[in-house]
Amino acid sequence: MEFTTNIEMKRGDKTFLSAFAFIENCSKLRLKQVELALHDIEYQRYRSFSTDVRKVSFLLGRYCAKKAIASLYNIKSLNQIYIDSGIFNQPIIKLPNIPNMRVSISHDGVSAVALAFPEEHPMGIDIESIDDEKSSEMSTHFTAHEKTLYQGMNHAKNEIDTILWTAKESLSKALKTGLTTGLEIMELETLEKVHQRYFRGTFTHFFQYQTISIIHGNKVITLLLPRKSIVELDRNSNLFN
Ligand SMILES: CC(C)(COP(=O)(O)OP(=O)(O)OC[C@H]1O[C@@H](n2cnc3c(N)ncnc32)[C@H](O)[C@@H]1OP(=O)(O)O)[C@@H](O)C(=O)NCCC(=O)NCCS
Repeated sequence: MEFTTNIEMKRGDKTFLSAFAFIENCSKLRLKQVELALHDIEYQRYRSFSTDVRKVSFLLGRYCAKKAIASLYNIKSLNQIYIDSGIFNQPIIKLPNIPNMRVSISHDGVSAVALAFPEEHPMGIDIESIDDEKSSEMSTHFTAHEKTLYQGMNHAKNEIDTILWTAKESLSKALKTGLTTGLEIMELETLEKVHQRYFRGTFTHFFQYQTISIIHGNKVITLLLPRKSIVELDRNSNLFN
């Protein structure tokens, strides 16, 4: 499945526009086609990776990022868009005429997601498979307060673990630090089930932000955005309903 959609966010009398792109279970044939989306410089970098796992993650992450940017700017040739990596590995869009756009990328095997958004309105994204072994490891890093958030949720523990983890990763991308800061500073203060597969979280210390997590099949996708922004996700799409 491939999917791109624009997301409108309202804040007072201002409206901001971001775009979300997703690809999952990408076949070998589709991977080959997706290579055409790479810019020349990206292609050289892609060829230089020594493992197939890194090649695929780089390719699918760049592809989603380009689909999201192209969706906002109506760009036809994805290979015109060059996405570099900054000194902390954060993705940097190098495209004339759109200097204030940012992008956030995440990959998970042969799936990837990206969000393109205006610099004025910081965002982040993360995708992670729900897996018992990984979730047990994740939960060893949660605070005592976070462990109380499971109560009354009526959801599998591994799903909630993955939601909490992806919330922290998405925040760490907006902060550009990655998970190097100590995870307790990114403690989730609240986690609310909005409907069956859709959760909203807020942070104890980073109260400027909220997260929206969606359980999609065996994956969690978490979007980070400013807490007071009001977002209408497209409930009619395959992903969000
Ligand atoms: C950054 C981090 C949260 C990413 O999470 P992950 O589960 O490993 O990987 P994901 O697939 O979700 O995300 C990877 C993408 O995040 C983005 N990213 C990496 N570092 C980032 C940062 N500091 N800020 C914002 N985005 C970043 C990149 O786009 C990367 O994809 P790419 O390398 O193909 O461009 C995680 O790797 C981490 O905490 N790393 C520790 C920090 C680190 O190693 N820093 C090295 C440079 S000092």
